[in-house]
Order: sequence, then C-alpha cells, then structure tokens
Amino acid sequence: MHKIKVPASSANLGPGFDTLGIALNIYDTFTFEEIPEGLEIIGCDQHYNNEDNLIYLSMIKALAEMDYKISGVRITVDSDIPISNGLGSSAACIVGGVFGANELAGRPFSKNDLLKIATDIEGHPDNVAPAIFGGLVVSIMDRVDVIHNNIDVANGLKFVALIPNFKLSTKKARAVLPKKISYKDGVYNVSRVSLLISALSNGKFELLKYGLGDRLHQPYRGNLIPDYEDIMAICQQHNALGTFLSGAGPTIMALTEEDNKDFVHDIKDDLKSLINTWEVKELSIDFEGATRIEG
Ligand code: HSE
Repeated sequence: MHKIKVPASSANLGPGFDTLGIALNIYDTFTFEEIPEGLEIIGCDQHYNNEDNLIYLSMIKALAEMDYKISGVRITVDSDIPISNGLGSSAACIVGGVFGANELAGRPFSKNDLLKIATDIEGHPDNVAPAIFGGLVVSIMDRVDVIHNNIDVANGLKFVALIPNFKLSTKKARAVLPKKISYKDGVYNVSRVSLLISALSNGKFELLKYGLGDRLHQPYRGNLIPDYEDIMAICQQHNALGTFLSGAGPTIMALTEEDNKDFVHDIKDDLKSLINTWEVKELSIDFEGATRIEG
C-alpha cells in the first residue's frame, strides 16, 4: 500500500500567469494498492468513480511512461482541497496519480521526471510544480522541458483564502482570456512580476500592492465572480498588503502582515453582507510538497 500526501496550491499570484505557484497547507491524501484486477476508487463522489478519474488517468499515463504494468488498482481518496475553487485540486489529483505510479513501479522516476508528466497532463506547470516541490515555485516550459526554481519567501506573511460556495472551471476561466495582448500590457506584467518576486523574497511587503498588479487574466476573469471588486475593496479596507485571484478563481487570496490579527475576523463580518457565502481560511506555506506517508 502506498500513501501520498499532496498540498493545495495557489497559482499565478497576480501577474505570474501560468508561471508562479505556491504550495499551501490544505492536503489531499491518496492511497494506491495493487489488486488482482479492475479499478476501485474509494472516498470520492460517485461521479468520479470510473476510468475517467483524473487520479487514475494520471497514474496510468505515468505507468505507461515507466513501461510498468499492474493487474488492477484500488485508490482511496481523502480530500480536503476544495474542488474547482482555484486551489489546485486537479493538480493534486494529477500529482497524486503520478507519484502513486512511481511508488507502484518501485520509484524509477525522479521528481523532475514526474513534474514533466504532470505538466503534460495539466497543460501548464504552475500548480503541479509547487504541489510537487512545496514553497513558492517559478516554472516554465521550454519546448518539451519543464524548468523550475524555488523562490525564498521572507517571514511575516499571512495567506488568507476567501473560498466561495460556488465553483468555476478552469476551462471556463481560460475561455474568457483574449487571444492577444498589447505590448504595453506585456511590459506591465513583466514589471509587476519582477517587483513581486523581489518584494516576497526580501520582505519589502509594502511593495506587494504594486507587484500584484496584473493585466493578463484578472481583468477578464473578475466578471465571472460576483462581488469581485467589492471583495478586493473590503480586503484593502482591512489593510491587506494585496489580493489576487487564486489560480483561475473563484477563490480570492489576500496577503496580510502576520501581525494583522483582526483581518480574518473583520472581513468575515463584511463578507456576510454579500449574496454568496465566502469561507475565510488562514493558510500557511507548505514547504515539503508531495510526500510519501510511511505505514
Ligand atoms: N494558470 C492557470 C490559469 C491556473 O490561471 O488558468 C489554473 O489552472
């Protein structure tokens, strides 16, 4: 029996579209057990209990790359990452599947090999890379290669996820993006993401309000999220250092100073007046990434 624990991840961080992602401390756990035949999936909605299951498909793809065959498999899912909410639930399933395959096959592949397979499945590396390596990760695709690097984050930052009671599929959130952007908007994002990385790594958090600026995806996706502008404004009123859409949304991530003790309580109050329900969850960075749980 092989047990894999995978963290949630928040991609883009504003201007780092399809490039930046950070692992956070909500987890899915996947157990893989070879059985004489067939497929059994335990612990997830009936809807996902078939051969189209993303964990299973990812495992099968990775096993094929490893040229390793199994007779059948029982996959047990224990999931805490909200589905289709912008916190990397699909990436966690993919990473769980490829890591599970690696365990079943006797660990022939490195984490870098698994990153490549996971990126092929997801289409972009910004969630799967932090889910595998932990921490804040920049990852890029260079033809067939996936290159990644961890970025240090200075102490003193708090991540507060505002998770709504509605879902938004990444497919829908990508469909509203323009096919072309202007040179000016390209430069806008290059400048913001550079400032963002410098501010996160040396702790000049007062610069985050500039560094989180984005013109590549958030202006287009905001319309898909009821009360988006109001929520951003509420966070600002309560001294958030900055806010961004977590991945493709609809979760909104607020960054605050660690000693902003009233933030969570105060925005919970303000969010109550909105039509949808927003859960407010204080999170911290996961530095380990996907791990094997012994026993
Ligand atoms: N970078 C991706 C997006 C993350 O924003 O569409 C969600 O999968």
